[in-house]
Order: sequence, then C-alpha cells, then structure tokens
Amino acid sequence: MAIRNIVKEGDETLTKVCRPVDKFDAKLAVLLEDMAETMRSANGVGLAAPQVGILRRVVVIDVGEGLIELVNPVIIEKKGEQECVEGCLSCPGEYGTTKRPAKVKVRAQDRNGKFFEMSGEELLATAFCHELDHLDGILFKKHVIRMLEPDELQ
Ligand code: NI
Repeated sequence: MAIRNIVKEGDETLTKVCRPVDKFDAKLAVLLEDMAETMRSANGVGLAAPQVGILRRVVVIDVGEGLIELVNPVIIEKKGEQECVEGCLSCPGEYGTTKRPAKVKVRAQDRNGKFFEMSGEELLATAFCHELDHLDGILFKKHVIRMLEPDELQ
C-alpha cells in the first residue's frame, strides 16, 4: 500500500466526469487500498479516485463504522433533508454548510464486481453524496449555502 498525492482544487482533474470501472483486477485492488490509506493518513472520512488523479468511478468512505469500498456507485434513493458542515481533502481548511438528503441508498459493485446496496443516514448519507459528486467533477462548494469563517472552526 502507498499514500498517494491528493489533488487540490484548481486542478482540472477534479472537474472531469470519471469513466466506469470495467476491469475488476489487481490494479483496482491496489487503487482501493492506496485510497483507503491516503484517506486515513489525511484524517478524511471519504476519498474519490479523481482526488488521487484517477478518472475512474471508485470511492472509499469511513465515517468511523468501517471501510466502505464503492465501485461504479449510483444513488438509487434519497429521503428527507439535513443540514451539514462539509469540508474536502481537496480544499484544505475550507468548510461550509450544505443541505443534503437525510437518508441515501446507493447501489455499487465491490472490488470483485459483485453488486450490493447500502443505506446511510447522517454523516454517511452526506459522504455518499459528496464522494459520488466527485465522480462527476462536482465539489461540495456547489452545494454550500454559506462558507464558514475561520473563527467558526473549532
Ligand atoms: Ni471531497
């Protein structure tokens, strides 16, 4: 495993629409493992492949309930609304309030290509929305109602 460089806002990689994964091979496994290690070393709760310069539909999330690997994920259900405070490893030091669905269900493939569904609420619902947006070249700032001032950060 290796820690990869996290691409920062302003790099055009973060504006591109990613291609689906079609090969569930050892290279994908290495990418997933490197992404998890990179996310953890940066104290993040989620990371999308374009953030490490790879334009493929791959996401890792860990909101403190264990590692989730999502390949070719799609949101299949959204319910309710919640207000969140979001940041992004590609926008260090910047946080903003957003409105996201309160409950989100995703359908994705695992590293072997097997389809599964998973539901999330609260932070996990936000993470699903935030990370899947990255796969379509969208940063959380598109959803921000108000950016936080430095004195509002703890
Ligand atoms: Ni992000």
